[in-house]
Amino acid sequence: MKFFIDTANLSEIQEAYDLGVLDGVTTNPSLMAKEGITGEENIKNHYKAICDIVDNNVSAEVISTDLAGMLKEGRELAALDEKIVVKIPMIKDGIKAIKQFASEGIRTNCTLIFSAGQALLAAKAGASYVSPFIGRLDDVSQDGLLLIEQIVGIYDNYGYDTEVLAASVRHTMHLIHCAEIGAHVSTCPLKVITGLLKHPLTDSGLEKFLADYNKGNK
Ligand code: E4P
Repeated sequence: MKFFIDTANLSEIQEAYDLGVLDGVTTNPSLMAKEGITGEENIKNHYKAICDIVDNNVSAEVISTDLAGMLKEGRELAALDEKIVVKIPMIKDGIKAIKQFASEGIRTNCTLIFSAGQALLAAKAGASYVSPFIGRLDDVSQDGLLLIEQIVGIYDNYGYDTEVLAASVRHTMHLIHCAEIGAHVSTCPLKVITGLLKHPLTDSGLEKFLADYNKGNK
């Protein structure tokens, strides 16, 4: 399973990259705003800065909701760096834009996926990734992981190349279940990735090993 980090914070992206397990970055307009990045030029420069840190797969989201606007914005974003994946919302014109970008060889991530039907449409249009938001489904008493399982099954049935990118991942158990189910990618905050490191028996075991070594080597 690929690990993407879901943030626009450059130091968190660098920290995850330095760990050696980072395969990409997802951002969205809310995450950009959280970092205080506003204005078209600043946002584009920020995407370039992210691309300078990681090896591939930087999702950059369009703001337009009409086909012409999405095509213009998406082409501009894709031209920034070959690592860019254009993030398109799951709306009617978004599907048309995904189809067009696929024919131009521009990679896309269809975002705001909340049903299997939406994921099927995006795959048929040729999306490189679909992003089902599992945490937001859990928030409204729907099982987000069940949706991931459903989409993985549908894509397997027909051999779609579209990768299931589990988004809105809130904790380590989400991430582990996504791996069990066969999600191709999980995107999550840094604390979820580093949370995988932790176990109290690792800490106490290491403490004891070091104490025993020190006793014998006084
Ligand atoms: C996906 O690409 C989104 O940026 C993100 O995962 C949304 O997560 P949230 O529900 O925690 O905002």
